[in-house]
Amino acid sequence: MMRIGMLTSGGDCQALNAAMRGVVKCIAHSGEQVEFYGFLNGYKGLIYSDFRMLTSKDFSGILTKGGTILGSSRTPFKTIREPDENGLDKVEAMKQNYYKLQLDCLVVLGGNGSQKTANLLSEEGLNVVSLPKTIDNDLWGTDMTFGFQSAVDVATQVIDNIHTTADSHGRVFIIEVMGHKVGWLTLNAGLAGGADVILIPEIPYDIDKICEAIEARDKRGSRFTIIAVAEGAISKKDAKLSKKEYKEKMADYKYPSVSYEIAEKIQNKTGHEVRVTVPGHMQRGGAPDPYDRVFASRLGAEAGQLILNKEYGYMVAYKNREIVKVPLSDIAGKLKYVSPDASIIQEAKMLGVCFGD
Ligand code: F6P
Repeated sequence: MMRIGMLTSGGDCQALNAAMRGVVKCIAHSGEQVEFYGFLNGYKGLIYSDFRMLTSKDFSGILTKGGTILGSSRTPFKTIREPDENGLDKVEAMKQNYYKLQLDCLVVLGGNGSQKTANLLSEEGLNVVSLPKTIDNDLWGTDMTFGFQSAVDVATQVIDNIHTTADSHGRVFIIEVMGHKVGWLTLNAGLAGGADVILIPEIPYDIDKICEAIEARDKRGSRFTIIAVAEGAISKKDAKLSKKEYKEKMADYKYPSVSYEIAEKIQNKTGHEVRVTVPGHMQRGGAPDPYDRVFASRLGAEAGQLILNKEYGYMVAYKNREIVKVPLSDIAGKLKYVSPDASIIQEAKMLGVCFGD
């Protein structure tokens, strides 16, 4: 009898359930006798022994369901080695609970921080297999994470809808897209939605260049300008600040987010009426799109296969159109950024998209 623990950690995304279902279906299909233990609310469930036994019924009908049937939470890697408020050693507690349940393996579905903790547990001797989850697509070691394509769909839909109202009113519109410190989501949704300006953290912007792009559109007779701004976008000026100086600036920041600062500057410089739309967590919600359903199911099946082969210490990943396994130690602590030299950026520029650089 195999005993497998499973948890979903960090910000949720579409296709978490599809991925878990993939793991379970693969192992069940092999004929292996298995018990699944679902830890609730991320690593917290493993730390505080909060779990429930999962049966095949739990995985029925969840392929299309957004969110996670196990719940999730953020357990920052930075403080994972620090005791909790009652003095509990969190890493030791996770190990104890794993051994108490006599688990053969722990399956972690998570983004960057969660993969670091997965690697730590693996280094501590637990059998761990992980899957790459995040709408940000910023995980090192994989070309694609599940959740990303669905979030691109949502953000694109927002840009599509904004287009018509921007046209009616002849306004400049900013759509702020999630993505944490990277620009994958903004770049892809921006291109899919036909944004005129795309601002991503990897390419610091100059506000004058953005205003020039708007004015050039005015001259060509365009009634509106659509700007997709990554939540982590940064100006050229701010990019030159030291970490300390930037922190100080942000401590006194009067805007709810960078989009509002950009909006005010554009309004003052060009006289245009500017509006900001922030779809926020909508981008992580709802059902996974067909791509993510297929992708997460494939990743789940391959993760299940690794477990059946007793190959531990890996994240299943997508590289050059194939599903592969990547050692957890190779990915932990690294972010995957958009390269400003990437061909997609060059092609976007050929299409006339302004990156503000
Ligand atoms: O990592 C996913 C993500 O949605 C980021 O794009 C965003 O910066 C962050 O999570 C928001 O975090 P929270 O849900 O904790 O507000």
